[in-house]
Amino acid sequence: MEDLIRAWDGESVVIRHDRASGAWMFVAIHDRTLGMALGGCRLKIYPEPREGLRDAIRLAGGMTLKWAAIDFPFGGGKAVLAAPGPLDADTREAVLLRFGELVESLGGAYGTGVDLGTAPADMDVIGRRTSRVFGRSAENGGAGDPGPYTALGVFTGIRTACEAVFGAPELEGRSVLVQGLGGVGGPLARRLAEAGARVLVSDALPDRAARAAAELDAEIVAPEAVYDTECDVFAPCAIGAVLNARSIPRLRCRIVAGSANNQLDEPTDAERLHRREILYAPDFVVNAGGAIAHGALEVLGWSAAEAEARILRIGDTLGEILADAERRGEPPLLEAVSRAQRVLSAARRHAVRGAAD
Ligand code: PHE
Repeated sequence: MEDLIRAWDGESVVIRHDRASGAWMFVAIHDRTLGMALGGCRLKIYPEPREGLRDAIRLAGGMTLKWAAIDFPFGGGKAVLAAPGPLDADTREAVLLRFGELVESLGGAYGTGVDLGTAPADMDVIGRRTSRVFGRSAENGGAGDPGPYTALGVFTGIRTACEAVFGAPELEGRSVLVQGLGGVGGPLARRLAEAGARVLVSDALPDRAARAAAELDAEIVAPEAVYDTECDVFAPCAIGAVLNARSIPRLRCRIVAGSANNQLDEPTDAERLHRREILYAPDFVVNAGGAIAHGALEVLGWSAAEAEARILRIGDTLGEILADAERRGEPPLLEAVSRAQRVLSAARRHAVRGAAD
């Protein structure tokens, strides 16, 4: 774990071993140039706590880019609750309460929310110990599940990517493979089917895939066949690092656009996709819908209509990024990262000038 932290360019990592449950809590604060670090809390079983820490720091860096790309006043942070095995309901609640205490003890440096493995009901529990929690249920004053908002943003991103590659944004007859039918993949698959796309679904849980397939008249793809399956668009909506040196040569799609955070295993994977002429819609650009909704509704006080309009602009932003990338002959990821870096640099210059005045 020491090596991971030393090699990281982030601000700080807070680690707590929860003796009673055996879980490890990691809060990674990557960059607070734009404001308080805000990012979801992932709850997952990890064979080694080190893997949880690795996820936390990678995800926190992604949040810095995500907020900067939309120019929202928040910094990059993320929490991971790394469970040693399945937690029973009581243990889970106790862990969440103690995690809430940990968040509260950080005094506003970090605010938490929903991510893979957590839901609004969990935020309600965490919210009994800290006010720095987003995505509580509506009964508890929160904006609820960010998943459908994220799905809406990815959906507009897919349309833009189709326009760039096929000359038209319409999804009628386009084949889209959705990997992971959880909080985002589920609603995304539904939207795609409504738009007339030929939807292919895959999930590690066979029941979930079967249910979605029946509901949407979709084709099921076995998890191990995902990377070899021909489709127009591949939408990774499950875990990270699915685009790597092993999977990229196998892909038979024209576009990758999905909601999973950190889809690339390493930055050079963007180059690998580019060389294969597969358009990669940068994850932190197209999956910002949930962040937009939660930041806008719960902190910035926007109306639901304003938040939704902002999410729909994700497609325009992606369109600009793709056009600039095309002009430069570079992978879209590079363009997206430099846009976000420009926002961060401008804010840093501003801060330095403010301090000097
Ligand atoms: N966890 C989601 C994401 O990675 C949504 C979220 C964003 C939740 C920001 C809380 C804060 O974008």
